[in-house]
Amino acid sequence: QAQSSLNVLGTEYKSDEWTNATPRILSLVGRDLHKNKNHPIGILRSLIENRFDGLGYTMYGDMKPNVSVHENFDVLGFPEDHVGRSKSDTYYLNKDHLLRTHTSAHEHECFLTCQTPGYFICGDVYRRDEIDRTHYPVFHQMEGARVWKRDDFKSEEELLAKIQADIDAIPKTDLIVEDVGYDPVENPKQDFMTDRETDLVSQHLKRTIEVLVDAVFNEAKSAAKLAGSTEEYLNEPLKVRWVEAYFPWTAPSWEIEVWWKGEWLECCGCGDVRKLVLDNSKLDNSIAWAFGIGLDRIAMLLFGIPDIRLFWSLDKRFINQFKQNQISIFKPYSKYPGSVRDISFWLPKDDEGQYLKLHENDLMEIVRENAGDLVESVKLVDEFTHPKTGKHSQTYRVNYQSMDRNITNDEVNLMNEETRKELVQKQSRSRKL
Ligand code: PHE
Repeated sequence: QAQSSLNVLGTEYKSDEWTNATPRILSLVGRDLHKNKNHPIGILRSLIENRFDGLGYTMYGDMKPNVSVHENFDVLGFPEDHVGRSKSDTYYLNKDHLLRTHTSAHEHECFLTCQTPGYFICGDVYRRDEIDRTHYPVFHQMEGARVWKRDDFKSEEELLAKIQADIDAIPKTDLIVEDVGYDPVENPKQDFMTDRETDLVSQHLKRTIEVLVDAVFNEAKSAAKLAGSTEEYLNEPLKVRWVEAYFPWTAPSWEIEVWWKGEWLECCGCGDVRKLVLDNSKLDNSIAWAFGIGLDRIAMLLFGIPDIRLFWSLDKRFINQFKQNQISIFKPYSKYPGSVRDISFWLPKDDEGQYLKLHENDLMEIVRENAGDLVESVKLVDEFTHPKTGKHSQTYRVNYQSMDRNITNDEVNLMNEETRKELVQKQSRSRKL
């Protein structure tokens, strides 16, 4: 951690007080699961891209995940105090550079350079987060956007007619759709777009995402049926609903939710692109939409994958199960037993007598550095205040479990002891601050 510089995909970054990208995280940069056509993530990406073939989109997949703070946050209008910018949520290379937290980091560049009406971007994104079966510090997103330039049309009527024609050209789906529209106060449209423009651009956006969701989830149903499942949900029509959302660079904004096995799954954030972003990208007389969808959780559903760590497995028994353009349900090769350890520590107090709580993501990071993919989950299981001394303690439960092999008690004890020591060290360091 005392390194004075980091090299990420050929670029050198001078470390500073913001640097918090760990060696383990950096070792995952460049694995490019989304570029592997025989990997579930790559297969899902192709499934989506193929669905939009011929509809006017440029497909980007080579943009590097090491980007500037400017691209990831500033240019998109993130306020200075947005939590996404904090060191506890984001992996920084240094003060001005980070591992992208979303593919929206490339909207600016793609709006500037794209030669087609729209584009898709697929890439790996990085977020500091908890540890369990659906959270991993690296996952994948697909970004989409579409632009109409007012200058391309002789009149507003012509522009509106063109957007309507583009909407009519979107393939129809059998989805049952619930749409709330947008609240003019909580989720207002932008002044630079007319009501008609907002209405049509938003319709084009929503119908496009519905096509994507329809393609992916119907594919998931077919795969499950083919694997012999007869569950009820497989015969019901797909249901989706639009809910209002907020993103600094779109307005109005929404999220689509899909009714899947008895619950609403949050799928994809989107909205009409804000004028600020368009102006920054030399699209000052244009209107546009954008969306971003996470691929990993959907791939888990599609392929029946029970633990997100499996995507990173190099075990042949995993890798060899998946073939280009085929959705197949994962066959577990073996289940290895887990091994549970509890870690407890006292929280130090600051000068005012307040407990200095360790940020949970910092704790997760320490566990990950020591255990890598051998950690399945970490949960806070107990908090305790001593009735006499007033001292406060926390207990976290770590489940160590390999996807590919048996792990020994000695191995687990060693990893756990390293983690415990580091936590104690970190706690006593924070007291000095
Ligand atoms: N980048 C957003 C996210 O990661 C998703 C999004 C993309 C929202 C584009 C609006 C427009 O949650």
